[in-house]
Amino acid sequence: MKTQIIKGIPVETVVFDAYGTIFDVHAAVMKSAEVLGPLARPLSELWRAKQLEYTWIRSLSARYMSFWRLTEQSLDYALATIAPDHSSLRNTILEAYRDLDAYSDAASALAYLRSTGIKTAILSNGDAAMLERAVLSAHLGGMFDALLSVETIGVYKTDPAAYRLVEQQMGILPKATAFVSSNRWDIAGANVAGFHCIWLNRLARADEYPDMAPSAVIQSLAELLTD
Ligand code: LAC
Repeated sequence: MKTQIIKGIPVETVVFDAYGTIFDVHAAVMKSAEVLGPLARPLSELWRAKQLEYTWIRSLSARYMSFWRLTEQSLDYALATIAPDHSSLRNTILEAYRDLDAYSDAASALAYLRSTGIKTAILSNGDAAMLERAVLSAHLGGMFDALLSVETIGVYKTDPAAYRLVEQQMGILPKATAFVSSNRWDIAGANVAGFHCIWLNRLARADEYPDMAPSAVIQSLAELLTD
């Protein structure tokens, strides 16, 4: 297994969160921005917040439901709250979520990492079928050695069992793994799981979870190519 130094950390693999890190979660609603006008951004923000809240509540309550169902239910709530007059956009927005755009910095960062011989993977709350489709529709096929979905264990991040999927399915230890996520709560969970964490702070947000800190903070995936 090849080892490389990424942001000062010797690793064999770089594992990425999917939604918000590789794929732009707001791209689905923004495709209907012309119709939604100023409601688009608050709609997308509430949708994302509720989608995540539902994963945490169902994990804490041991009542797993697929990420796709939670994505549907959270959009229904957000539309009813923010844009009740636009509920007819529901299926259009959901279909756009199946084929989210990748951020512009993703393909080149992945290509570079793989050119150095280290492995790359996704570890996501997304259902396996969602991840497979998203990778192909974003033209990232062949860029990942594994697409790890919590669907196989029926509990969402930040449950430690979710992060254990990397060792279980790839045979790579946390200490040889860099985990990249734009979600600071996800970085906290990966820190507890023993990964070297790189927080992709795209929006330059204030830090939190001080006892569950990243090893490095970047604002673009392009920074993975530099020391
Ligand atoms: C994921 C979401 C939580 O891809 O960002 O796991």
